[in-house]
Order: sequence, then C-alpha cells, then structure tokens
Amino acid sequence: MPSAIRGLFPLELTPGLLSMLAGKPNPEAFPINSISVNVQDPWDTSKNVDLKVEGNDMAEALQYGATAGMPRLAAWFEELQQEVHGRGKDEGWRVSVGSGSQDLLYKAFLALLNPEDSCLIEAPVYAGVIPMIDSIKCNIVEVPTDYEGISSSSLREILESWPAGKPYPKVLYTVPYGCNPTGATAPDSRRREVLALARKYHFLIMEDDPYFYLYFGTATRPTSYFAMEKQDGQGTGHVIRFDSLSKILSSGLRIGWASGPKVLLDAFDLHTSTANLQPSSTTQAITYAYLKYIGLDGFLKHTERVSQFYGAKAAVFERAMQKHLSGLATWAYPNAGMFFWFKLKLPPVHNAPEGDSNVLIAEKAFRNGVLALPGTSFFPKAQPTPYVRAAFSLLSEDDADEALRRLAETVRQE
Ligand SMILES: Cc1ncc(COP(=O)(O)O)c(C=O)c1O
Repeated sequence: MPSAIRGLFPLELTPGLLSMLAGKPNPEAFPINSISVNVQDPWDTSKNVDLKVEGNDMAEALQYGATAGMPRLAAWFEELQQEVHGRGKDEGWRVSVGSGSQDLLYKAFLALLNPEDSCLIEAPVYAGVIPMIDSIKCNIVEVPTDYEGISSSSLREILESWPAGKPYPKVLYTVPYGCNPTGATAPDSRRREVLALARKYHFLIMEDDPYFYLYFGTATRPTSYFAMEKQDGQGTGHVIRFDSLSKILSSGLRIGWASGPKVLLDAFDLHTSTANLQPSSTTQAITYAYLKYIGLDGFLKHTERVSQFYGAKAAVFERAMQKHLSGLATWAYPNAGMFFWFKLKLPPVHNAPEGDSNVLIAEKAFRNGVLALPGTSFFPKAQPTPYVRAAFSLLSEDDADEALRRLAETVRQE
C-alpha cells in the first residue's frame, strides 16, 4: 500500500503552497549546526580537504527526505551509471538509493517473489541473501558456480529441462565480480549466455555487484549485465543492478543504490515508504558533499586506487597460502573482491566423499585462534562441503602469515 503521507510529498514542491502535511520537525530546534568532514583529495592523497555541510544543505541533512533518496544524490548515481555502464537516461530506468545494497536486495526479493514462485540463485551464494529468500518460502533453484562464476551451461540445462506446466523462474540472483564467497568474476561469454537465457525464459537478473570497483585482474574487465543488455541492442529491462559504497567509501554510511526498470523500483520504494521511510538524510548529505567535490573523474580515480589496494592484499595473502596451505588445499586466484575460496583436502565423512570443513573451521580452527567461514554457510540447503571462505581485506602481511599457519596446523591435525 502507498503511504498516505509520503505519497503526497511531491505536492509540497508546488510553487506558493503552504504545507501542513507531514510531521516534519523544525530544524531550528535541532542542536546540530553543521557537519565538517575531512577527506582525501583523490588526485593527491597526501592532501586533506575540509568539506562542510551547512545552511540549506544542513537543514536538508537533518530533515526527512525523498523515499528513493536525495534527488541530487540519485541523479549523481544516474550520471555515474551513464558514464560507467553506458546507459542513457531515456531507457526507462532510474535509481533508488537505499540503506546499503542489502536493504534494496531484501526489498527486491520481497517485491518480485511470492511464496512458491521459483527463484534461481547461484550456489554457493552470498550468505546474506539466504534468510531473505528462505523467508519468502519460494522454490529455490540452485545454479552451480565455479572459479569462472555462474555456470551458464548448467543454467541452460536447468531451464531446458524445466518441468512442463510449472511456471518458469522469475528471478536469477548473481554476484558477477569478485563473487562472495568464491572470488570469481564471470567472463563476458558466460554473461552473454545468461542474458540470452533471461530474455528467452523471461526472468530478471538481479546483478548484485558491490565488488565491481574492486576489479584488479589484468585482462580487460568484463561487461556488467546492465551495460550488456544495452550494448547488444536486443532490448533492455531484464536487469536490476545493485551497487554499494560499502567497499569503496564507507560501509558505515550505509549507502547503496539500485538501477533498473522504473516500475520495479516504484515497488521497492513503496516498501521503503513503510519500512524505514527513506535512507538516512544525514549520511546522504555527507556522501553527496564528497561525491560533488571529487566528481565522476575523482570517483573513478579513487576506485582505481581501491582496486589496486585489494590487488596488493590478494597477492600478499596468496603468498601466505602457498607457504602454508600447499598440499593441504587448492584454490584459484581471484581477480576482484576480497575473498579466497579454497578447497581443503579432507578425509571423507559419511555423507560427504570430499569431507566437510564445518566443524574444522567453526570449532577447531577457532580454538586454534583463527576465524574463517566454512563453505556450508553459503549453500541454501547447508550441504557439507570441503570449501572455506577467507576474507583477506583486513589482515597485514604478518597476520595473514600467522592466520594461515594456524589454519594449516589445524588441518594437519585432522
Ligand atoms: C554480495 C554482497 N551483496 C550485498 C552486500 C551488502 O552490502 P551493503 O553494505 O551495501 O549493504 C554484501 C556485503 O558484504 C555482499 O558481499
């Protein structure tokens, strides 16, 4: 249902109108005068710059605002999508800002799926969406992935052998860059096949891409689904893209944005207008002040630096993996993101011929002073698996070495 109050918000912009509509507090009663943020210059990181949110911008920062996010910020993200993904503004899409992409993902699943609808999700999958899909009680169809991302040939087989009379899936969820948990980045060839299947079988691709700007591979970067559906000229409208500032600016700001068909985003916004009214005006104002200062070029410069940072971290982590886990595990080197997904060589257990990392990682490794995530956490049906996910984002070189030494010691004791 639309919100009786928020539905009328746009009318407040009518020239000459006196509004007694919403229970907006009077900012004169607020004790906060301005916000100062000290930021790095993206072109010269040794240079620090003070940015100030004040006056009308400050009043806006302290007030309720638009459900889909501060219009100036949403417009900035739309410009970015035009620049990075080549999408024109006249193609029936727009942006909604959310409290992190997690907020928008949840609203998308709830808007798109009813109980018993079928939903395709890559498996292993980002563990944060499993409870969402589970709560909808829909029919989860797992699409296998490997170190090259989602297996488009498996997806084709699933769809070609779909039971007659059963409604086809409505949605496919995938993390195409530096996948959480596998670290995989899907190549264009697979993406093309997935998109062709989406068109043929009429499902939407939920492109959850918080690691897009953390691509440190040496090959040309693959094309986003959002860009690809425009580039191939066969019609847009099959992709909803989820971006996030969490991995590049601050995860604490809680700013993410969805880009996709207007009619779908309208439905997500209806949910927002009831669930949490809007993303925080205060963090949007701080974010906008920074983005306006750096501009699109500065943003791309900054994200390039972030990707190099993670590329260097991955190289350091891999050296420690070679040193401690050679012979005990196998893995592929990620081209993006912040995860290594490795397969431990474990003795078989009764329901798992390749072994199960769960107790070893969740209990024994923890007792030995190292914490990682057992692969089972990333399967909707919690199947046993020898895989483990390790985040390399925070560890120093010494800590990575020691963490993997402890892990290897635990594995050897199996
Ligand atoms: C694949 C994936 N999607 C979404 C999120 C949530 O991101 P946000 O902080 O933007 O809500 C994460 C966070 O780790 C993630 O890995």
